[in-house]
Amino acid sequence: MHLHVADHPLIAHKLTVLRDERTDSARFRLLTDELVMLLAYEATRGIRVEDKAVSTPVGPMTGTALSNPRPVVVPILRAGLGMLEGLLRMLPTAEVGFLGMVRDDETFEVTAYAERLPSDLSGRQIFIIDPMLATGGTLAMAIDYLLARGVSEVTAICLVSAPEGVAHIEHTYAGRADVTIHTAALDEKLNETGYIVPGLGDAGDRMYG
Ligand code: PRP
Repeated sequence: MHLHVADHPLIAHKLTVLRDERTDSARFRLLTDELVMLLAYEATRGIRVEDKAVSTPVGPMTGTALSNPRPVVVPILRAGLGMLEGLLRMLPTAEVGFLGMVRDDETFEVTAYAERLPSDLSGRQIFIIDPMLATGGTLAMAIDYLLARGVSEVTAICLVSAPEGVAHIEHTYAGRADVTIHTAALDEKLNETGYIVPGLGDAGDRMYG
């Protein structure tokens, strides 16, 4: 597994405002949108491309185009939905698949309540988006869905991650799949109620509550 923790002053600044408990839902959604665009720059560095002939007003050249099949973006509902528009602005030709998952407040067990993925996923590059990686149970279930459909390469883009969740993903997929995590921050720990410390609270509630 590859872990990339963003190291950029703009990302750190926007994330600090996002964490602030006084930030309201409208601003929270706007900042999430901006952060995912900034994270997308690095997270898409390995996207597959091919040569493309183009003529400028001055003459012909060999440029670059995204390869087929198109990449697939998978937001994990609810909170991942808040990252979708920003990523699609960077990858407008991507296909979108949806996974709905919710974590039990007490047991931290994850239940999937919706699955609408493109029918042919084998060999596709997948970008899972979810603001929070806490215990890692949700991301692991999402990756399992994708592996069962023939995917072998997954990139997760998160805003805040806990070391426990990163370790869970690393341990679960070592030698099984090519998993990369891009996160705006790697926080200190999880608390006893499964919240990331210091984190930003419940991203879904702060966006849509
Ligand atoms: C949050 C978050 C992740 C998950 C992370 O979603 O958006 O999906 O919890 O927790 P984990 O790493 O311990 O599995 P939640 O279950 O609160 O659903 P929501 O997005 O609908 O609010």
